[in-house]
Amino acid sequence: MSDASAPPTSALSVLMVASEAQPYAKTGGLADVTGALAAALARLGHAVTMVMPRYRVVDAAGRGGRRLPLTMGGRAFEVGLVEVPHGPRERVVLVECDELYDREGLYGAGGQDHPDNAVRFGVLSRAALEYAVGLESPPSIVHAHDWQTGLVPVLLRTRYSADPVWRRIPSLFTIHNLAYQGVFPAETLSALDLGSELLSIDGLEFWNQVSFLKGGINFADTLTTVSPAYAREIRTPEYGEGLEGLLVHRQQVLTGILNGIDTDTWNPWTDPYLPAPFSAADLGGKRFAKRAVLTRYGLPDDATAMARPLIGMVSRLVGQKGLDLVWEGRGALAAMDAAFVVLGSGERRYEEMWRDLAAAHPTRIGVRVGFDEGLAHLIEGGADLFLMPSRFEPCGLNQMYSMRYGTVPVVRATGGLDDTVRPFDPDTGAGTGFTFHEYRSSAMLVALEAALALYARPARWRALQQAGMRQDFSWDASAAAYVHEYRKVIDRRREADGERGE
Ligand code: ADP
Ligand code: GLC
Repeated sequence: MSDASAPPTSALSVLMVASEAQPYAKTGGLADVTGALAAALARLGHAVTMVMPRYRVVDAAGRGGRRLPLTMGGRAFEVGLVEVPHGPRERVVLVECDELYDREGLYGAGGQDHPDNAVRFGVLSRAALEYAVGLESPPSIVHAHDWQTGLVPVLLRTRYSADPVWRRIPSLFTIHNLAYQGVFPAETLSALDLGSELLSIDGLEFWNQVSFLKGGINFADTLTTVSPAYAREIRTPEYGEGLEGLLVHRQQVLTGILNGIDTDTWNPWTDPYLPAPFSAADLGGKRFAKRAVLTRYGLPDDATAMARPLIGMVSRLVGQKGLDLVWEGRGALAAMDAAFVVLGSGERRYEEMWRDLAAAHPTRIGVRVGFDEGLAHLIEGGADLFLMPSRFEPCGLNQMYSMRYGTVPVVRATGGLDDTVRPFDPDTGAGTGFTFHEYRSSAMLVALEAALALYARPARWRALQQAGMRQDFSWDASAAAYVHEYRKVIDRRREADGERGE
């Protein structure tokens, strides 16, 4: 880590725009990543401004910052920009606009998307750029994440393209999940003040509709996604969600950078949510976490229950996460000599599936539907195994949290899961978890059975836990990889601008 008081002479200034970031608002891994990446870049000596909405859940001091008059699609919005400093080189700018953000749910409520999401995230993208235009010096690079900020690269190359300063500033767009695309009716363009010429194949058009994600992919100067394996997968029809052709077309500028994890927040030695600390050298405290989880779920914690393997799952309960494999294999799963603790929310059918399983096996299956950060930490600490049978997984953070907490992951070898979990080799004892390839419940069950068989051999099991705990998943390497991409694209953009006759 570099000395916090001495920024490098070539320090960059990064304008990040995201729809969620820790510690303010989170529905999934995106928030962990944007929050931790911003902090890691600042530690490397770069200046980072993160612009995000002030949702109702955002707990931060100060309201009513600088007013920003913003008109979009003939509608005037009351927008405020509240700057929250985070250390010497990082700040978060909360975009206040109560009519758009002060409501339940970041993206929707009661299982329905908010109907005005195009406008909500259009305003976020516009506000972020207007904020930066008002600063004394412009950023070196603009970094946007996922469909909600897909319009940021589009606006840079349309609305701001005539500005001699702004047309030099490159944008990087990170795809965290290709399955969420922000697709809206074609008429939305005018509500966003975007020209109808953008309704074209090399613009935002996607099956006669407007796709924010496609806009980001088409207009950004460079693209990243969150693991090398996912960067390859999304160029195939199986994973490309209809955008594989475009991604092949743009493959020269598409890089996979594996997410890191926040090793301070996710540290079993200091985690305030755990009843006792533990580490690779001293795993003793893990038993207390196991007992605490069993108790929290109202499951027995006698000697038999403590000896039985405990399988954890913390997940959005959606198709991506492989829940139909669980559904198909539910009989065999419930028949295993193992207990399950599940935390998640999402599609009603999956919530009901787990509730029914828990009702049928009240001493071995515990389920909590909801979002609970503390319980997520406790499960990572207390479970013996962690199950992630994802259909696709751009990166996935929980398998890395699991390894750090001595909780052995059982995962489908896809995307970031494939890049981070090394399969256990029974001959050499090497590896950090159990993997399966085919998207079939039988394959998942074979991997789980192999894991349970090893669990019965404590010395070998401990070696596997410790191998996982000793992996380095910290942000240092990933943040440096982003800086490398930033510099590459800054140079490229400068050259291109020069060639246009400056
Ligand atoms: P995704 O972003 O696709 O949901 P990731 O594995 O990247 O998957 O990140 C999920 C993050 O959200 C992790 O930090 C995980 O602990 C957290 N999480 C998911 N569901 C819940 C929940 N119900 N309660 C608490 N944390 C959750
Ligand atoms: C997405 C992906 C997940 C990834 C996260 C952070 O939500 O589903 O795999 O870890 O973004 O990049």
